[in-house]
Amino acid sequence: MTIYRPARIDDALEIAKVHRAAFGGEDEVKLVGMLEACGDVAASIVAEEDNRVVGHVMLSRMEAEADGTTIEALALAPVAVLPERQGVGIGGALVRTAEATARQLGCQAIFLLGEPGYYGRFDYDVGAARPFESPYAGDYWQVLLIDGGLRETRAGKAKHARAFAALG
Ligand SMILES: CC(C)(COP(=O)(O)OP(=O)(O)OC[C@H]1O[C@@H](n2cnc3c(N)ncnc32)[C@H](O)[C@@H]1OP(=O)(O)O)[C@@H](O)C(=O)NCCC(=O)NCCS
Repeated sequence: MTIYRPARIDDALEIAKVHRAAFGGEDEVKLVGMLEACGDVAASIVAEEDNRVVGHVMLSRMEAEADGTTIEALALAPVAVLPERQGVGIGGALVRTAEATARQLGCQAIFLLGEPGYYGRFDYDVGAARPFESPYAGDYWQVLLIDGGLRETRAGKAKHARAFAALG
């Protein structure tokens, strides 16, 4: 059985292992550490099986506005599942759990950078993100607009937490 729960401090090493194994490098391990060190984490959620962390997703605070009005926005990143447990729905459940958490936090929009082919199935949308200016704007820049009124946005801005810029 897979349990989805808020990460605890003592999960840190296992969370790092998940990102290292899934991404094959240290960038996401550093991103998680920097978001925590900067106090920018809104939610950190693990997937646990048999007392072992097999997946992880993080939501971080960001600054955003739509047509001159500040909005409550979060960034979803990183998300990863241990390679040997991929393809059985854990990543999808983590993305959905992150969305439910964001809704509970009063979030109006969740931004992310990722494969539209994957995130499209969770209603993240490249077109809806287009009006929101960001250094990450482009083919992978997507948003889930929880507040439907934001679909009318003509010009917006979305600024990720500092940790993202530190990674270049
Ligand atoms: C992306 C990731 C989190 C998905 O987790 P998962 O547990 O394998 O996902 P699920 O089991 O819920 O979904 C699997 C589906 O996603 C698809 N998928 C996985 N990665 C994908 C990608 N990069 N682009 C498009 N589709 C992708 C699979 O092909 C599979 O499709 P199917 O349902 O049609 O068979 C996981 O593959 C992973 O950790 N990858 C390495 C790290 C990474 O790329 N993170 C995302 C950065 S944007």
